[in-house]
Amino acid sequence: MTPASHAPVANTRWVVLKFGGSSVSSRANWQNICAIVRRHSASGARVLVVHSAISGVTDQLERLLAAVLAGRPATALEELEQRHRRLATDLGIEFGAQIEQEFAQLRAIADGVALVGEVSDRTRARVMASGELVATELGVGFLRSQDLDVSWADARSMLRAQANPDATERSRVLSAICEFAPDPQLSVRLAALKPVIVTQGFIASDGDGNTVLLGRGGSDTSAAYLAAKISAESLEIWTDVPGMFSANPRSTPTARQLLALTYDEAQEIATAGAKVLHPRCILPARQYQIPMRVLATQAPELGGTLITTEPGADAAQVKAVCIKKGVTLVALDSPGMWHQVGFLADAFQVFKQHGMSVDLVSTSETNVTISLDPQANTLDQATLTSLLGDLQRLCGVRMIGPCASVSLVGRNIRGILHRLGNALELFEEQKIYLVSQAANDLNFTFVVDEEQGDRLVEQLHELLVRPVSSDAVLGRTWERLHAAGKPDAGPTPPWWQRCRTELLASLAGRDSAFVYHRATIAARAASLRSLTSVARVLYAMKANSHGEIISLLVAAGLGLECVSQAEVERALQVPGVSRERILFTPNFAPRAEYAWALANQIRLTIDNLYTLRAWPELFRGREIFVRIDPGHGRGHHQHVRTGGDYSKFGIPVEEQDALALLAAQLDLKISGLHAHIGSGVFDVGTWADTAHVLAALTRRFRDVRVIDVGGGLGVPDREGGAAFDMASLDTRLGVVHKALQEAGANVELWLEPGRFLVAEAGVLLARVTQTKTKGEVRYVGIATGMNSLIRPALYGAHHDIINLTRSDSAATETVHVVGPICESADFIGHDRLLPPSEEGDVLLIATAGAYGRAMSSHYNLREPAAELFV
Ligand code: LLP
Repeated sequence: MTPASHAPVANTRWVVLKFGGSSVSSRANWQNICAIVRRHSASGARVLVVHSAISGVTDQLERLLAAVLAGRPATALEELEQRHRRLATDLGIEFGAQIEQEFAQLRAIADGVALVGEVSDRTRARVMASGELVATELGVGFLRSQDLDVSWADARSMLRAQANPDATERSRVLSAICEFAPDPQLSVRLAALKPVIVTQGFIASDGDGNTVLLGRGGSDTSAAYLAAKISAESLEIWTDVPGMFSANPRSTPTARQLLALTYDEAQEIATAGAKVLHPRCILPARQYQIPMRVLATQAPELGGTLITTEPGADAAQVKAVCIKKGVTLVALDSPGMWHQVGFLADAFQVFKQHGMSVDLVSTSETNVTISLDPQANTLDQATLTSLLGDLQRLCGVRMIGPCASVSLVGRNIRGILHRLGNALELFEEQKIYLVSQAANDLNFTFVVDEEQGDRLVEQLHELLVRPVSSDAVLGRTWERLHAAGKPDAGPTPPWWQRCRTELLASLAGRDSAFVYHRATIAARAASLRSLTSVARVLYAMKANSHGEIISLLVAAGLGLECVSQAEVERALQVPGVSRERILFTPNFAPRAEYAWALANQIRLTIDNLYTLRAWPELFRGREIFVRIDPGHGRGHHQHVRTGGDYSKFGIPVEEQDALALLAAQLDLKISGLHAHIGSGVFDVGTWADTAHVLAALTRRFRDVRVIDVGGGLGVPDREGGAAFDMASLDTRLGVVHKALQEAGANVELWLEPGRFLVAEAGVLLARVTQTKTKGEVRYVGIATGMNSLIRPALYGAHHDIINLTRSDSAATETVHVVGPICESADFIGHDRLLPPSEEGDVLLIATAGAYGRAMSSHYNLREPAAELFV
């Protein structure tokens, strides 16, 4: 340590700031670090900076050791040194003597290792420590160059590993645990240094003064230990994401920033798979109640997560959906287990002998299933086989895996279980192997097949987290935060926000109306027409068959997909629509509709071999499309998934022999293969998967020139939701198309979306008729309900609702928005936060352009809302 230069100050306030690897690897970040340190110093606090190695260096040091053992150390050492020199240049500072010396030492150790031909754990620890030792020298250099008064301190003189006789020598050296009781002497010693101190994360020393490591991710823990030891008033973990999130934001862009967590919740989330915070670092902060913050170095203005003893809100709430993959389940089956004393003890003894830590357990009279977490165990085949062998002496044993454990973390989790129904519908055909509810009511976990894990996270997050309005716990989505960091990159506000006055005026004397926006329809058509892999886009006019919309889309170059003779006739009445643009895809329609289509040269798709068997003369010598069922469905609700045995659509792939036979007998020309597996789908791989299935059939049905992969493209049902990824769809379909071409197939791809083209272009406006409060429930009634928009009643679909009359007033009331129809299902939205609404106000129901008016009815003899354009 540098000699004392500042007298210890009574009542010193300490702030500990930890900066991770990516935080300390660029000049831009260092400028932010400088500002953060200055801000704390200006508040009168002393600052202890705990600093990781620059990103990737710990891995490089591992590679260096491997290279030394393989006899090729030179380039690895050279690379490492160059990496640090580049950063020094970037920071505009000298590559000082201390750093040169550290590299000289590293070279000497490498020579020694080469000579002995092996690396001891102690040597490994010393080598790995050099990443932090060198990086902190650079950090001090930069802060000093910015006129900050800084001392460099060696963490090994501050953190002492516990003796821990139960641990192996290896874990004592490479993943040590340190004491962290408050250490007034250390505080005094540090207070004698400069007001800003920089030290290393990840490293400590043992009782003999040897270097030890705290394990991967150990810098967070170093910072927490030090904060506890010097009784810091706060601990800030600066990393590359602005806090903890309600799901992994890289795979769930609608993940919400978590503003407030308790230590217990943060611990659950960190342990359940989130990588942002090391689970071990929470204990010291919790024990001494040091508030922790998790923040992003590159974007301090985005704020982050505050972790304290306060939950932020008391209501039952899911705060995060976490996933851990690579989980193995061990199912122990024993019919004699009932009331058998000691069975569990014997079984767990076996796990202990194999050094296995058990994570979740579920028990029944004849089965005990336990999960093994890959982070806590080495789950290689040899280890598992030997475990299996020993367990088999006790009972029947099955290994199940790879699995994923998906956990809901939050407060009073039991209070939300009744809402899980919809999300679990997804598992109608899939297995849930194990369900476990934590005794502390903070965690509810499902174990499922690994490949189902991400989908389950998506569904649960969508159902339980995303819809919650902003509150003290759930902040902005990752997408929004991201857009906030990049000016002008935010999502475009929906058209109706700009057209408020016009919309209110358009309603004139009416009490309800669908209002459509032509420019939005045109924009969606243009985005589909830009797909290079798709030769033709057909509009599935069942979504909205308004003549003007059909006309607009035909003018934009689209074809039309029709599902009834009446739709085809309506299409043909629209000026500019020719037969050639139409594809007719009926399902269980009467014979007469097929006869009519064939007689009128309408391109026709059959989706049942019955049509060919029962009416052979109708089809003999004809050219047709065939709708195939690839065997599975997708979509926002069970009612819109159109694949698999429980769906009435399509000819199963397995019936291809029968199809080929009938085609030969009837001299059919099958020029198109079609499939549509569902509606409201965001997974862009879906259409390429369908195309693969159909492409395989082209080898057999040689006349095929068109593969129609259906519609179903999802539209976000909430403002700010992630948009459909059109570019990825194009890439994925492009791959299939290229493969078809390379195989010599002269086949083009068609797409037939409905919703995507019109959903966002339409809103339903309806006036408030009456309000009511019953018990704790507040109702706002509007002039039209499920007779105009049946989607909420039929699918539980969500539509954003806004009080257009009072769009500037604060939303303070949670209400159910209901219609005038004599059905309890007649609601448009439940639990919506709105400004207090009064009779005559106009409510706007968003995303109502698709399957709104098209599915409306005259039930109760109430006219559905009329249709207008702005
Ligand atoms: N092609 C076929 C053969 C279809 O059956 C459908 C929709 C589409 C294309 C267009 O699917 P889209 O791109 O619009 O998702 N009423 C439900 C949707 C039912 C979809 C029926 N078939 C809803 O409101 O969500």
